[in-house]
Amino acid sequence: MAKNNFTRRKFIETTSAALGGSMFVGPTISKAPEKPKRLKRDGKMRVAVVGMGVRGVVMYGRTLVEGYGDYLEIVGICDTNPGRLEYADGYVGAGCPTFTNLDEMLEKTDPDRLVVTTWDWEHHNCIIASLEHGVDVVCEKPLTIDEDKCQQIIDADKKYENDVFVTLNYRYPPHRAKVKELLMEGVIGDIRTVDFHWNIDHAHQIRYMQRWHGESQRGGTLWVHKNTHYFDMINWFLDSDPVEVYAKDSLDIFGSNGPFRSTNCRNCPHADRCDYHWDINANDHLRQMYADNEHYDGYIRDNCVFRHNIDSHDKHSALVTYANNAFLYYSLTSDTDHDGYWIAFKGTKGRLEGREGGWGTSQNHQEWLLKPLGEESEKITVDFTSGSHWGGDPLLLNKLFVDPYIDDPLHQSAGTRDGVMPVLTGVAARKSAASGKPVKIAGLTSLKPHKKRPSDLV
Ligand SMILES: NC(=O)c1ccc[n+]([C@@H]2O[C@H](COP(=O)([O-])OP(=O)(O)OC[C@H]3O[C@@H](n4cnc5c(N)ncnc54)[C@H](O)[C@@H]3O)[C@@H](O)[C@H]2O)c1
Repeated sequence: MAKNNFTRRKFIETTSAALGGSMFVGPTISKAPEKPKRLKRDGKMRVAVVGMGVRGVVMYGRTLVEGYGDYLEIVGICDTNPGRLEYADGYVGAGCPTFTNLDEMLEKTDPDRLVVTTWDWEHHNCIIASLEHGVDVVCEKPLTIDEDKCQQIIDADKKYENDVFVTLNYRYPPHRAKVKELLMEGVIGDIRTVDFHWNIDHAHQIRYMQRWHGESQRGGTLWVHKNTHYFDMINWFLDSDPVEVYAKDSLDIFGSNGPFRSTNCRNCPHADRCDYHWDINANDHLRQMYADNEHYDGYIRDNCVFRHNIDSHDKHSALVTYANNAFLYYSLTSDTDHDGYWIAFKGTKGRLEGREGGWGTSQNHQEWLLKPLGEESEKITVDFTSGSHWGGDPLLLNKLFVDPYIDDPLHQSAGTRDGVMPVLTGVAARKSAASGKPVKIAGLTSLKPHKKRPSDLV
């Protein structure tokens, strides 16, 4: 029988009042639950973390140690690179055992929950190993990089009792939660179209091209790695599943398009004339984590952005049709010095639009423009909260580690199904751009698109 990750109310019926039963809206935790839910034993949640790169050591390492000690204990950290692991041990400061093998960590530490912050193409292995050991999983986005690995995760999630949580953190910033709330209230009626256009600037884009994200076999291309965030936002806003994708992409400036190339930035003879030169040695934290340990596994953090094996893209455009008959007109452009996006929902009763980066954004708040049909526009202002990813990450951590089963009126929690769907949109876009034909989501895995998103794996 299919599992329903987020309707397992039986586990929280008696305890949801512990946090006032309300949506958790601030980074400040005012009151602890009596004890975290569904733990194997009394006491704090036992958390293990696999993947000690930047995301692992900061968001799920030092931040948890410093801010969540009342709720959890980090019982083990793991990385296949022993040098990076040693650096992480000192940086995170958990004082816990360290491991270079995930199975060994799961066996010896017996955690309640494993956080997966490895390379994207390794996520499925870690998720499946964790479920086999009877351990809940918190997996970073994207859930994985292709449809076969999606299916492996779906099958494992159905087979094993434990839960999978996917960290779709772009749902959490309060200014986006406000949009979700307005759409759920039906202020613009049934949504017919969404215009959604992202720009990521050169400084942002080279962080992907320098690393595994630029190589499709490892990052699934930015269609999956990066666009997962954005496709998920739309799935969440529309509360419907994607059905078909028609896409185009192009690689205009990076990879083989470059005028010259070298092994990496540090020793590049072209440094003076390269617009994208970046000195990892200027950042002690990154140097100690990556450059000092590359002899163990050959992971080069400051790879050349003009290396020939880059086959991700810097220009993406897609038409995505949804099961509720909404159309998404989408683009991602990264050959630009602008970072931000514009989004506009057109519904049967009006229009809601906003822009992040540039117009519509101040240091302190985000503005949305609501224009009901035949009426004047109304400006809706939402204050920003502190913390990374527009204040979303602290709210996500609260949800994951204080009480993942607390009431979730805006449906911000995500399980396997929500994690799979944006990956499939990216996979479909990749295939469509390569073939020149539209690609159906239903043909990719056992999951079928639904007009209203179900929480079961159906
Ligand atoms: N939600 C967000 O906004 C956000 C932001 C940044 C990163 N991420 C995600 O977090 C993850 C980590 O990103 P990063 O930038 O830290 O990557 P990274 O490449 O810097 O680090 C990954 C680490 O995982 C280790 N690793 C890989 N496979 C392993 C395995 N099977 N067992 C043990 N260790 C393994 C590597 O040695 C490396 O240290 C990625 O999935 C990324 O997409 C999400």
